[in-house]
Amino acid sequence: MKIKEALKIKELSRSEKEYILSKLLNEDKIFLHLNPEFEFDEEKFLKIIELRKKEYPLEYIFNEAYFYDEKFYIEEGILVPRDDTEALIDVSIKELGDYVKQEKKLTITEIGVGSGIISITLAKKFPQFRFIATDINPKAIEVSKINAKTYNVNIDFRLSNLLDEVKEKIDIIVSNPPYVEEEWNYEPLKYEPKEALFAKDSGTFLLKEIVKEGIKRKVKLIICEFGYNQKELMIKFFESLNIKNYYFYKDLSSNTRGFVIKF
Ligand SMILES: C[S@@+](CC[C@H](N)C(=O)[O-])C[C@H]1O[C@@H](n2cnc3c(N)ncnc32)[C@H](O)[C@@H]1O
Repeated sequence: MKIKEALKIKELSRSEKEYILSKLLNEDKIFLHLNPEFEFDEEKFLKIIELRKKEYPLEYIFNEAYFYDEKFYIEEGILVPRDDTEALIDVSIKELGDYVKQEKKLTITEIGVGSGIISITLAKKFPQFRFIATDINPKAIEVSKINAKTYNVNIDFRLSNLLDEVKEKIDIIVSNPPYVEEEWNYEPLKYEPKEALFAKDSGTFLLKEIVKEGIKRKVKLIICEFGYNQKELMIKFFESLNIKNYYFYKDLSSNTRGFVIKF
């Protein structure tokens, strides 16, 4: 097959086809533009097109995902990082920045580390703080360690339900927990681990557990991502616990996508 023919295949966007071709041919996009007649063995390319037609994540095919301008190793069995989570990083950088000014030494814990994108991005930015990150999925711990090594950051990863294996005093909890309601049946999600996506109680079960855990541990701050329609449910929950000092943050599309509680 010639490059120009491959780029004409209808089902995928041009940028995705270019990405696939440049990965398979180990060439950059300029090469693709300058060599439309270049012939290559199409077998692998067509196989990938078939997988993509079934919405199998591209990130699992090439074992990489981009987040906050950096490349992370990723594999099947781990949630694919979402652009939405960059809003959680922005708000975390703002909040943690206030503690830098106070020159406090803090222990930050992430619940549900997945591929490590959140803890690693924050640990790069705030090397003065201690980071502990947990996940119930052993593969998440394995993959996070690979990514932490790439970026040379020091994070203490622990296989744990919530913070069960974290006995020391902690100051801040950051989390993008599973928050999709269990009834939601959305095809493309079928390739990702269920325990990374779905939660009971209209998706709010783990969000609420994390808040309760934060109160029990007397943390200073909790920062969590949640779903588009969970703001009202969380307000009710905060009221039931008499939590008053909180705000919600928005993603780049102006959807409310998470909360920050200050104690
Ligand atoms: C939505 S994913 C987030 C992954 C990563 N932090 C990110 O933002 O891409 C949620 C993660 O929480 C983990 N998880 C689910 N229940 C958990 C629990 N009870 N305790 C710790 N981690 C849990 C899942 O295995 C998954 O890796």
